[in-house]
Order: sequence, then structure tokens, then C-alpha cells
Amino acid sequence: MTGFSGRRRAGEARSFVETLTALNISGIFTELTAASLAKLDAGPGDAVLDVGSGTGDVLRVLACRVGQNGRLVGVDQDEVMVDAAYERLRDIVPEPELVVADGAALPFDDGTFDRVRSERVLIYSANAGAAVHEMARVVKPVGRVVVAEPDLATSIPDSPDIELTRRILAYSQDMHGSARFGRQARRAFIEAGLVRVTVTAVLAMLTDFTSWRDLFRIPNMLEREVEAGVITAEESVRWLGELEEHGRRGVFLWALTSFVVCGEKLSVS
Ligand SMILES: C[S@@+](CC[C@H](N)C(=O)[O-])C[C@H]1O[C@@H](n2cnc3c(N)ncnc32)[C@H](O)[C@@H]1O
Repeated sequence: MTGFSGRRRAGEARSFVETLTALNISGIFTELTAASLAKLDAGPGDAVLDVGSGTGDVLRVLACRVGQNGRLVGVDQDEVMVDAAYERLRDIVPEPELVVADGAALPFDDGTFDRVRSERVLIYSANAGAAVHEMARVVKPVGRVVVAEPDLATSIPDSPDIELTRRILAYSQDMHGSARFGRQARRAFIEAGLVRVTVTAVLAMLTDFTSWRDLFRIPNMLEREVEAGVITAEESVRWLGELEEHGRRGVFLWALTSFVVCGEKLSVS
């Protein structure tokens, strides 16, 4: 899978912007985004925070929902992403409020926002639970927090070599701070004191090999695994070759389950 965490090689920053743009355009996660925005239920005049706002694609959608009287803030730990979001938002938001910060240490007062969201971010964070606590802290009483996160242990390419697939995916998952946060998010919400917590699952699926290989930068992932000694160069070529063959025969399949968790903060009375 792609790695949007703090660890990166020199020169990779730009390519992360391109990768995220391609992923968002591909529509793989459109259903997940739609489900999370439906739960968020942001309306005109609301103050909304998007944690891990990336290239700002969802902020553009939210800008239309909160309108001119609303407040929209994006936070991302990556300055390059914040710059990209600024460029992408300028035509619809005159002064986009974009902040470079870690989701686990949000630079806002308690109870600042009506709605706080995060999507496909916390799996990259070693401190996903702390980020949920922070999101619960900065939301207003009776406000709403929504997180949409995959569970990378549910990534299932249909490869004929089950043992090799297990080894490749396990290493890739271990490179993420919280690869299984999808299944853990509901618990994190309850432990952060959020109430009326709901959870729904959304499946992403691809039957086109080339899209899967390119969107998730699979050759890069395999290169790292060979370098780390997890697999041999021969295993890398064989594994990808077999999946490519599935693609040629029109039988390729990959799927991933994500979870949308929504919770509210108790009112103070
Ligand atoms: C896959 S992108 C998703 C971006 C956006 N949420 C979307 O749906 O298009 C992950 C983003 O989360 C950011 N990120 C990862 N860990 C973070 C953290 N601990 N705090 C803030 N941002 C983080 C990355 O820099 C990257 O921009």
C-alpha cells in the first residue's frame, strides 16, 4: 500500500501528492467518502475540521456545504500536502485555513468545532488513539466526530500463492503505524468518551490489475520488501507476474474493507 506517514525517501513528497490525486480521482474510495460525509452531516454555518486533509479534495466538497458563514480548517502533518491543498482550494475559498500539525496534537482550544472528521489518515499514525482523543477534545458538546479508516489486514488480492501473499502483506502492514485501526476505531471512540457511536463497513474493490498496481505503487512496495530481505527478487517478480496474468485473463480481484465510525460529544448541562 502507499505510505503517507512521516517516513519517506528523498524526492518522494511530490509523488505522494500525485499518488493521492490519482487515488481520489480513481473513485475507489468515493463510497467511503460519501458514507463518512453523510454521517458528518455538516451544514451551512458549521465550523468543520478535517484532520489529515491531504490535497484538500474533501475540503472542496465541504466548502460548498458550510457556505460563506461556515469555517473550514484542514490539518496535515505534511507541508507539501498543505501547499497542494492551498492551491486546490484557492478558487473557492479566498483564504483557506490550512495548518501543518500532527493529528495527535491539534493546535486548537477545547470545543472549537461543530464537526471533526478524518479519512484514510489514522492507519499511518502510531498514535491513532491519541488522535481520536484530540478530535473528541476539539469538537463542541453535541458536536460530531467521524473517522473513515481501512483495516489493512483486510487487503485481499486473489493471488495463487497464499503463503507469499501473507508474508508480503504482513510486512507492508507493519510499515503502517496503525494498520488495523479500521477495526479498532469504534473502541477508540468509546474510550475517548464519545457517545451514540455507530459503525458501518464499506468495501473498496478493483478488478483491473494495472489500476491496482499503479494506484497502490505495488512495485515500490515490493522493492522495499526485497531490500528488507522479506522476499527475494525472484518471489517479487513471480508474485506480481501471477497477478498480472490474472489481469490478462480478466480474473484479477483485490478488495479492502474500511470502517466509518461516528460519535457525539456529551452536552454539558
Ligand atoms: C491517504 S492521505 C488522505 C488525505 C485525505 N484525508 C483524503 O481523503 O483525500 C493521508 C494524509 O494524512 C496525512 N497524515 C498522516 N498521518 C498524519 C498525522 N498523524 N497527522 C496529520 N496528518 C497526517 C498525510 O500527510 C496525508 O496527507
